[in-house]
Amino acid sequence: MDKLRLGVLYGSRSCEHEVSIISALQLIKAVDPAKYDVTPIYITQQGEWYVGDALLDMKLYTDFDPYKAGLKRVTLDLTAGSGALLHYEPGKGLLRGLREEVVARIDCFVPVFHGLHGEDGSIQGLLELANIPYTSTGIAGSAVGMDKIIMKRFFRGMGYPVLNGVECVRANWQRETDATLERIEKALPYPVFVKPACLGSSIGVSRADDRDQLKEALEVAFSYDRRVLVEQGLDRPVEINCSVLGFDGETETSVLEMPLTDTGTLGFEEKYLRGSSSAKGMASMGRVLEPDIGQELSERIRGLATDIFRALDCKGVVRIDFMIDRTSGEVYITEINTIPGSLAYYLWARKGVSYAMLIDRMVECAMKAQREKDENSYAFRSDILRNVALGAKGSKGSKGSKL
Ligand SMILES: Nc1ncnc2c1ncn2[C@@H]1O[C@H](COP(=O)(O)OP(=O)(O)O)[C@@H](O)[C@H]1O
Ligand SMILES: [Mg+2]
Repeated sequence: MDKLRLGVLYGSRSCEHEVSIISALQLIKAVDPAKYDVTPIYITQQGEWYVGDALLDMKLYTDFDPYKAGLKRVTLDLTAGSGALLHYEPGKGLLRGLREEVVARIDCFVPVFHGLHGEDGSIQGLLELANIPYTSTGIAGSAVGMDKIIMKRFFRGMGYPVLNGVECVRANWQRETDATLERIEKALPYPVFVKPACLGSSIGVSRADDRDQLKEALEVAFSYDRRVLVEQGLDRPVEINCSVLGFDGETETSVLEMPLTDTGTLGFEEKYLRGSSSAKGMASMGRVLEPDIGQELSERIRGLATDIFRALDCKGVVRIDFMIDRTSGEVYITEINTIPGSLAYYLWARKGVSYAMLIDRMVECAMKAQREKDENSYAFRSDILRNVALGAKGSKGSKGSKL
């Protein structure tokens, strides 16, 4: 049987561009070469797509020069079901013009982005349009999972436990700074956590314990995003993460992890710059696997994670993060990551699911979703075009239905 051709997409115009490179190269290394042919597809910060062998060398990215590295710039053919990566060269001689070359054909895409322009439903939209299977959550779930403001509204609407929050918009903040600070202080006691709506990896997230810190935190957050969430803060919460894998009602949860922090807040550095090697991404973070939090609490967290996975119609592997209030013992949802750092592979190894097996499962989910999609009808024929008159000026007296 022919090998399945995987296209691993990563990079993109996102604050988490570098984290995505690490996650993607890690994944590519773990793919079973007997089963798959892998094409790495790197999207630069400017949005250019490149393919080529040199992409597998991490050093390439520190001083990125596509020409020296012999990379080929490509675009995705959006014709439904094509999966072709196209490269254009200026033609030579009499037949000048652009010469089109099909560099690769992809059977299934593996989006390994973190943050905007990749984890947020945008690439998923492109792949839906191109009608090619892909391993991550669909458009709606990805979009809700990226936006902390809409995510909170969604979770609250579903009756899931979330901390109170105040939503802020940059234009209002600039116009009515003092009124905004007062509005937040009226709604929430200190400490609060201030977060750009659509970011990840703790970038732009800060804790504020008084008005001065709040003002500064809002300035920082608004430099990253037009919309900011201010959330009721917990003091040194116990953080517990749970990965969920599957599609369409068939789901499995991973073991739980408890990330370790020195400061009580998980920052970018604690996530990626710790441990023996920063090239390990999320896998290098300090953590306790299968923490002893009691069976009841573990089951509650696993149950909530599964419910959230289903409510957002997720696909492939996601990670859902929780915080436990040390004083009350209450559990709150922090967020969902629809493409988690290092694809959360380290949470599956404990269950006997190797990274190669995890990739198999993700691909199976993608193929199943595509089969389901293919069962839908996209052709609904009617006679409305035959009988229509657009009702433009001067069309008085024309027969037929008016729109
Ligand atoms: N309400 C809160 N109370 C206490 N700590 C918080 C709160 N919100 C976030 N944090 C801390 O900040 C980290 C990052 O916040 P999070 O919402 O997960 O953003 P990101 O998407 O950037 O990871 C969390 O892992 C946690 O350590
Ligand atoms: Mg987080």
